[in-house]
Amino acid sequence: MDLLKTLENIEKDAEQELTELDELKELEELRVKYLGKKGEIQQVFNKMGKIEPEQRPVVGKSANILKQKIENLINENQQRLEKAKEKKRLVAEKIDVTLPGNKPKLGRAHPLKVIIDEITEIFTGMGFSIAEGPEVESEYYNFAALNIPEHHPARDLQDTLYLDDHYLLRTHTSPVQIHTMEEQDPPIRIIAPGKVYRSDELDASHSPIFHQIEGLVVDKDITFSDLKGTIKLIVEALFGENRKIRFRPSYFPFTEPSAEVDVSCIVCGGEGCSLCSRSGWLEIMGSGMVHPNVLRMSGYDPDIYSGFAFGVGWDRLALLKYGIDDIRVLYENDRRFLHQF
Ligand code: PHE
Repeated sequence: MDLLKTLENIEKDAEQELTELDELKELEELRVKYLGKKGEIQQVFNKMGKIEPEQRPVVGKSANILKQKIENLINENQQRLEKAKEKKRLVAEKIDVTLPGNKPKLGRAHPLKVIIDEITEIFTGMGFSIAEGPEVESEYYNFAALNIPEHHPARDLQDTLYLDDHYLLRTHTSPVQIHTMEEQDPPIRIIAPGKVYRSDELDASHSPIFHQIEGLVVDKDITFSDLKGTIKLIVEALFGENRKIRFRPSYFPFTEPSAEVDVSCIVCGGEGCSLCSRSGWLEIMGSGMVHPNVLRMSGYDPDIYSGFAFGVGWDRLALLKYGIDDIRVLYENDRRFLHQF
Protein backbone atom coordinates (compact mmCIF):
# COMPACT_ATOMS: atom_id res chain seq x y z
CA MET A 1 0.00 0.00 0.00
CA ASP A 2 1.57 3.30 -1.12
CA LEU A 3 0.09 5.93 1.12
CA LEU A 4 2.49 8.55 -0.21
CA LYS A 5 1.06 7.94 -3.66
CA THR A 6 -2.46 8.29 -2.19
CA LEU A 7 -1.47 11.60 -0.60
CA GLU A 8 -0.12 12.80 -3.93
CA ASN A 9 -3.42 11.98 -5.61
CA ILE A 10 -5.39 13.67 -2.86
CA GLU A 11 -3.24 16.77 -3.32
CA LYS A 12 -3.79 16.85 -7.06
CA ASP A 13 -7.53 16.36 -6.75
CA ALA A 14 -7.88 18.92 -3.99
CA GLU A 15 -5.93 21.55 -5.92
CA GLN A 16 -7.98 21.02 -9.00
CA GLU A 17 -11.35 20.89 -7.29
CA LEU A 18 -10.71 23.92 -5.15
CA THR A 19 -9.47 26.18 -7.91
CA GLU A 20 -12.31 25.20 -10.22
CA LEU A 21 -14.86 25.91 -7.55
CA ASP A 22 -17.29 28.79 -8.11
CA GLU A 23 -19.90 28.46 -5.35
CA LEU A 24 -19.20 29.24 -1.72
CA LYS A 25 -21.46 26.50 -0.45
CA GLU A 26 -19.54 23.84 -2.39
CA LEU A 27 -16.44 24.90 -0.52
CA GLU A 28 -17.97 23.57 2.66
CA GLU A 29 -18.56 20.20 0.99
CA LEU A 30 -14.90 20.04 -0.05
CA ARG A 31 -13.77 20.92 3.44
CA VAL A 32 -15.71 17.90 4.72
CA LYS A 33 -14.48 15.72 1.88
CA TYR A 34 -10.78 16.36 2.58
CA LEU A 35 -10.49 17.49 6.17
CA GLY A 36 -13.58 16.01 7.83
CA LYS A 37 -13.59 13.26 10.44
CA LYS A 38 -14.19 10.73 7.72
CA GLY A 39 -12.32 12.80 5.14
CA GLU A 40 -9.59 11.62 2.84
CA ILE A 41 -6.67 12.81 4.98
CA GLN A 42 -8.13 11.13 8.04
CA GLN A 43 -8.47 7.93 6.07
CA VAL A 44 -4.74 8.00 5.34
CA PHE A 45 -4.06 8.34 9.07
CA ASN A 46 -6.41 5.43 9.72
CA LYS A 47 -4.43 3.21 7.41
CA MET A 48 -1.06 4.04 9.06
CA GLY A 49 -1.22 0.93 11.25
CA LYS A 50 -1.01 -1.24 8.20
CA ILE A 51 2.27 0.08 6.80
CA GLU A 52 5.91 -0.52 7.71
CA PRO A 53 6.73 1.18 11.03
CA GLU A 54 9.67 3.13 9.55
CA GLN A 55 7.37 4.45 6.84
CA ARG A 56 4.89 5.87 9.37
CA PRO A 57 6.73 9.12 10.34
CA VAL A 58 7.33 9.91 6.66
CA VAL A 59 3.69 9.36 5.73
CA GLY A 60 2.48 11.11 8.89
CA LYS A 61 4.59 14.17 8.17
CA SER A 62 3.47 14.33 4.54
CA ALA A 63 -0.17 13.90 5.57
CA ASN A 64 0.13 16.77 8.07
CA ILE A 65 1.78 19.00 5.50
CA LEU A 66 -0.94 18.20 3.00
CA LYS A 67 -3.61 18.82 5.58
CA GLN A 68 -2.16 22.28 6.24
CA LYS A 69 -1.86 22.93 2.54
CA ILE A 70 -5.50 22.03 1.89
CA GLU A 71 -6.57 24.22 4.80
CA ASN A 72 -4.69 27.12 3.25
CA LEU A 73 -6.19 26.40 -0.14
CA ILE A 74 -9.65 26.40 1.33
CA ASN A 75 -9.09 29.72 3.07
CA GLU A 76 -7.65 31.33 -0.05
CA ASN A 77 -10.52 30.12 -2.17
CA GLN A 78 -13.02 31.21 0.40
CA GLN A 79 -11.67 34.73 0.11
CA ARG A 80 -11.69 34.51 -3.65
CA LEU A 81 -15.32 33.33 -3.71
CA GLU A 82 -16.50 35.88 -1.19
CA LYS A 83 -14.96 38.66 -3.23
CA ALA A 84 -16.59 37.33 -6.38
CA LYS A 85 -19.93 37.09 -4.68
CA GLU A 86 -19.72 40.67 -3.41
CA LYS A 87 -18.76 41.88 -6.85
CA LYS A 88 -21.72 40.09 -8.36
CA ARG A 89 -24.03 41.69 -5.81
CA LEU A 90 -22.68 45.14 -6.53
CA VAL A 91 -23.16 44.65 -10.25
CA ALA A 92 -26.70 43.40 -9.72
CA GLU A 93 -27.57 46.31 -7.48
CA LYS A 94 -26.02 48.93 -9.63
CA ILE A 95 -28.29 51.93 -10.14
CA ASP A 96 -28.33 53.60 -13.49
CA VAL A 97 -28.72 57.23 -12.51
CA THR A 98 -29.26 58.19 -16.13
CA LEU A 99 -32.54 56.23 -16.39
CA PRO A 100 -35.69 58.37 -16.34
CA GLY A 101 -37.32 58.33 -12.87
CA ASN A 102 -40.76 57.05 -11.93
CA LYS A 103 -43.02 60.04 -11.65
CA PRO A 104 -45.15 59.80 -8.49
CA LYS A 105 -48.84 60.20 -9.25
CA LEU A 106 -49.76 63.50 -7.68
CA GLY A 107 -53.20 64.14 -6.26
CA ARG A 108 -55.12 67.36 -6.80
CA ALA A 109 -57.46 69.30 -4.61
CA HIS A 110 -61.05 68.16 -5.20
CA PRO A 111 -63.26 70.86 -6.79
CA LEU A 112 -65.42 70.94 -3.64
CA LYS A 113 -62.32 71.52 -1.59
CA VAL A 114 -61.11 74.29 -3.92
CA ILE A 115 -64.44 76.09 -3.55
CA ILE A 116 -64.61 75.78 0.22
CA ASP A 117 -61.03 76.99 0.55
CA GLU A 118 -61.88 80.06 -1.51
CA ILE A 119 -65.05 80.76 0.43
CA THR A 120 -63.36 80.21 3.77
CA GLU A 121 -60.65 82.63 2.82
CA ILE A 122 -63.13 85.32 1.80
CA PHE A 123 -65.12 84.98 5.01
CA THR A 124 -62.27 84.64 7.46
CA GLY A 125 -60.85 87.76 5.80
CA MET A 126 -64.07 89.54 6.84
CA GLY A 127 -63.75 88.37 10.44
CA PHE A 128 -65.98 85.29 10.26
CA SER A 129 -65.05 82.10 12.04
CA ILE A 130 -65.79 78.54 11.01
CA ALA A 131 -68.43 76.65 12.98
CA GLU A 132 -69.35 73.00 12.92
CA GLY A 133 -72.26 70.91 14.07
CA PRO A 134 -73.19 67.24 14.20
CA GLU A 135 -74.61 65.46 11.16
CA VAL A 136 -76.92 63.46 13.39
CA GLU A 137 -79.38 65.96 14.81
CA SER A 138 -82.44 65.95 16.97
CA GLU A 139 -85.74 67.17 15.59
CA TYR A 140 -85.35 70.16 17.86
CA TYR A 141 -82.20 71.53 16.21
CA ASN A 142 -83.11 70.57 12.67
CA PHE A 143 -86.72 71.83 12.83
CA ALA A 144 -88.34 73.13 16.03
CA ALA A 145 -85.62 75.60 17.03
CA LEU A 146 -85.69 76.87 13.45
CA ASN A 147 -89.34 77.73 13.75
CA ILE A 148 -90.37 74.86 11.49
CA PRO A 149 -93.76 73.78 12.84
CA GLU A 150 -94.74 70.21 13.66
CA HIS A 151 -96.66 69.52 10.46
CA HIS A 152 -94.45 71.37 8.01
CA PRO A 153 -93.85 69.30 4.86
CA ALA A 154 -90.06 69.60 5.32
CA ARG A 155 -90.45 67.32 8.33
CA ASP A 156 -92.01 64.69 6.10
CA LEU A 157 -90.41 61.26 5.82
CA GLN A 158 -90.23 61.92 2.11
CA ASP A 159 -87.58 64.57 2.58
CA THR A 160 -85.94 63.63 5.85
CA LEU A 161 -83.90 60.57 6.75
CA TYR A 162 -84.98 59.71 10.28
CA LEU A 163 -82.85 57.48 12.48
CA ASP A 164 -85.61 56.99 15.06
CA ASP A 165 -88.49 59.05 16.49
CA HIS A 166 -86.22 61.87 17.60
CA TYR A 167 -83.00 61.75 15.68
CA LEU A 168 -82.36 62.31 12.02
CA LEU A 169 -79.61 63.15 9.55
CA ARG A 170 -79.60 66.92 9.29
CA THR A 171 -81.37 68.12 6.16
CA HIS A 172 -79.54 71.44 6.13
CA THR A 173 -76.70 73.21 7.91
CA SER A 174 -79.12 75.65 9.59
CA PRO A 175 -79.05 73.73 12.92
CA VAL A 176 -75.48 75.03 13.30
CA GLN A 177 -77.06 78.50 13.66
CA ILE A 178 -78.83 77.27 16.79
CA HIS A 179 -75.81 75.51 18.28
CA THR A 180 -73.72 78.62 17.72
CA MET A 181 -76.24 80.97 19.32
CA GLU A 182 -76.67 78.64 22.28
CA GLU A 183 -72.92 78.50 22.84
CA GLN A 184 -71.88 82.07 22.12
CA ASP A 185 -72.98 85.55 22.92
CA PRO A 186 -73.43 88.08 20.14
CA PRO A 187 -71.86 89.42 18.04
CA ILE A 188 -71.76 86.32 15.86
CA ARG A 189 -70.16 85.97 12.49
CA ILE A 190 -69.79 82.38 11.33
CA ILE A 191 -69.90 80.17 8.31
CA ALA A 192 -70.60 76.48 8.73
CA PRO A 193 -69.69 74.18 5.84
CA GLY A 194 -70.83 70.58 6.03
CA LYS A 195 -72.65 67.55 4.68
CA VAL A 196 -76.43 67.39 4.66
CA TYR A 197 -78.81 64.52 3.89
CA ARG A 198 -82.14 64.21 2.14
CA SER A 199 -84.08 61.20 0.99
CA ASP A 200 -83.52 61.93 -2.69
CA GLU A 201 -82.64 59.46 -5.42
CA LEU A 202 -79.23 59.98 -6.97
CA ASP A 203 -79.41 61.55 -10.43
CA ALA A 204 -77.56 64.21 -12.41
CA SER A 205 -78.82 67.02 -10.20
CA HIS A 206 -79.71 65.30 -6.89
CA SER A 207 -77.76 63.38 -4.35
CA PRO A 208 -78.93 62.04 -0.99
CA ILE A 209 -75.77 63.52 0.50
CA PHE A 210 -74.65 66.94 -0.53
CA HIS A 211 -72.93 69.96 0.95
CA GLN A 212 -74.12 73.30 2.23
CA ILE A 213 -72.47 76.33 3.67
CA GLU A 214 -74.44 78.15 6.28
CA GLY A 215 -73.74 81.76 7.12
CA LEU A 216 -74.95 83.56 10.22
CA VAL A 217 -74.38 87.10 11.43
CA VAL A 218 -76.08 88.41 14.58
CA ASP A 219 -75.39 91.73 16.20
CA LYS A 220 -77.09 95.00 17.00
CA ASP A 221 -78.35 96.87 13.91
CA ILE A 222 -77.81 94.16 11.33
CA THR A 223 -79.99 94.90 8.33
CA PHE A 224 -80.92 93.39 5.01
CA SER A 225 -78.34 95.58 3.30
CA ASP A 226 -75.61 93.81 5.31
CA LEU A 227 -76.92 90.53 3.90
CA LYS A 228 -76.93 91.94 0.36
CA GLY A 229 -73.41 93.35 0.66
CA THR A 230 -72.00 90.12 2.03
CA ILE A 231 -73.58 87.96 -0.65
CA LYS A 232 -72.52 90.31 -3.42
CA LEU A 233 -68.96 90.05 -2.22
CA ILE A 234 -68.85 86.28 -2.25
CA VAL A 235 -70.60 85.93 -5.61
CA GLU A 236 -68.13 88.34 -7.15
CA ALA A 237 -65.20 86.54 -5.59
CA LEU A 238 -66.40 83.20 -6.92
CA PHE A 239 -67.84 84.13 -10.30
CA GLY A 240 -66.27 87.44 -11.22
CA GLU A 241 -67.21 91.08 -10.87
CA ASN A 242 -69.62 91.19 -13.81
CA ARG A 243 -72.08 88.81 -12.22
CA LYS A 244 -75.50 90.34 -11.57
CA ILE A 245 -77.35 89.35 -8.39
CA ARG A 246 -81.06 89.30 -7.80
CA PHE A 247 -82.98 88.79 -4.57
CA ARG A 248 -86.33 87.10 -5.04
CA PRO A 249 -88.87 87.09 -2.20
CA SER A 250 -89.16 83.62 -0.80
CA TYR A 251 -90.21 81.77 2.31
CA PHE A 252 -88.25 79.97 5.00
CA PRO A 253 -89.77 79.48 8.46
CA PHE A 254 -86.52 80.58 10.11
CA THR A 255 -86.04 83.87 8.24
CA GLU A 256 -88.29 86.87 7.80
CA PRO A 257 -88.15 88.37 5.30
CA SER A 258 -86.66 85.58 3.20
CA ALA A 259 -85.05 85.79 -0.19
CA GLU A 260 -83.76 83.42 -2.79
CA VAL A 261 -80.52 84.66 -4.37
CA ASP A 262 -80.03 84.32 -8.13
CA VAL A 263 -76.94 85.16 -10.18
CA SER A 264 -76.94 86.01 -13.85
CA CYS A 265 -76.35 82.80 -15.81
CA ILE A 266 -72.67 81.92 -16.07
CA VAL A 267 -73.17 80.37 -19.50
CA CYS A 268 -75.32 82.91 -21.36
CA GLY A 269 -74.79 85.93 -19.10
CA GLY A 270 -78.54 86.55 -18.93
CA GLU A 271 -79.71 85.98 -22.50
CA GLY A 272 -81.33 82.65 -21.71
CA CYS A 273 -79.95 79.17 -22.38
CA SER A 274 -80.59 75.57 -21.42
CA LEU A 275 -78.60 75.78 -18.16
CA CYS A 276 -80.79 78.56 -16.80
CA SER A 277 -84.00 77.24 -18.43
CA ARG A 278 -84.08 80.37 -20.62
CA SER A 279 -84.56 82.60 -17.57
CA GLY A 280 -81.09 84.12 -17.61
CA TRP A 281 -80.78 83.46 -13.86
CA LEU A 282 -79.40 80.69 -11.67
CA GLU A 283 -80.64 80.15 -8.16
CA ILE A 284 -77.72 79.71 -5.79
CA MET A 285 -78.87 80.18 -2.22
CA GLY A 286 -81.58 80.81 0.32
CA SER A 287 -81.23 83.71 2.71
CA GLY A 288 -83.05 86.12 4.96
CA MET A 289 -83.18 87.99 8.24
CA VAL A 290 -83.12 85.63 11.21
CA HIS A 291 -86.69 85.16 12.43
CA PRO A 292 -87.35 86.75 15.88
CA ASN A 293 -88.69 83.39 17.11
CA VAL A 294 -85.37 81.73 16.28
CA LEU A 295 -83.41 84.41 18.12
CA ARG A 296 -85.73 84.15 21.09
CA MET A 297 -85.57 80.34 21.29
CA SER A 298 -81.78 80.51 21.28
CA GLY A 299 -81.81 83.00 24.14
CA TYR A 300 -81.25 86.25 22.23
CA ASP A 301 -83.52 89.26 22.68
CA PRO A 302 -84.93 90.11 19.21
CA ASP A 303 -85.61 93.67 20.37
CA ILE A 304 -81.88 94.19 20.82
CA TYR A 305 -80.34 91.89 18.25
CA SER A 306 -80.99 91.16 14.63
CA GLY A 307 -79.19 89.02 12.12
CA PHE A 308 -79.07 87.51 8.69
CA ALA A 309 -78.47 83.96 7.54
CA PHE A 310 -77.89 82.22 4.27
CA GLY A 311 -77.49 78.67 3.07
CA VAL A 312 -75.63 77.80 -0.13
CA GLY A 313 -75.63 74.51 -1.99
CA TRP A 314 -71.91 74.11 -2.16
CA ASP A 315 -71.95 71.28 -4.75
CA ARG A 316 -74.03 73.41 -7.09
CA LEU A 317 -71.53 76.24 -6.74
CA ALA A 318 -68.81 73.81 -7.87
CA LEU A 319 -70.91 72.62 -10.82
CA LEU A 320 -71.57 76.20 -11.91
CA LYS A 321 -68.06 77.43 -11.37
CA TYR A 322 -66.49 74.58 -13.33
CA GLY A 323 -69.26 74.06 -15.89
CA ILE A 324 -69.94 70.48 -14.77
CA ASP A 325 -73.36 69.14 -15.69
CA ASP A 326 -73.61 66.05 -13.47
CA ILE A 327 -73.37 66.21 -9.69
CA ARG A 328 -72.39 62.52 -9.47
CA VAL A 329 -68.89 63.12 -10.82
CA LEU A 330 -68.16 65.07 -7.63
CA TYR A 331 -68.50 61.92 -5.55
CA GLU A 332 -67.08 59.22 -7.81
CA ASN A 333 -63.49 60.36 -7.40
CA ASP A 334 -62.41 59.27 -10.84
CA ARG A 335 -58.84 60.48 -11.18
CA ARG A 336 -59.36 61.34 -14.85
CA PHE A 337 -62.11 63.75 -13.85
CA LEU A 338 -60.37 65.17 -10.80
CA HIS A 339 -57.22 65.78 -12.78
CA GLN A 340 -58.87 68.49 -14.81
CA PHE A 341 -58.82 70.87 -11.87
N1 PHE B 1 -81.61 75.93 5.18
C1 PHE B 1 -82.17 76.39 3.93
C2 PHE B 1 -82.20 75.22 2.94
O1 PHE B 1 -81.64 74.19 3.20
C3 PHE B 1 -81.33 77.48 3.34
C4 PHE B 1 -81.35 78.74 4.16
C5 PHE B 1 -80.39 78.94 5.13
C6 PHE B 1 -82.32 79.72 3.95
C7 PHE B 1 -80.39 80.11 5.89
C8 PHE B 1 -82.32 80.87 4.67
C9 PHE B 1 -81.36 81.06 5.64
O2 PHE B 1 -82.81 75.31 1.91
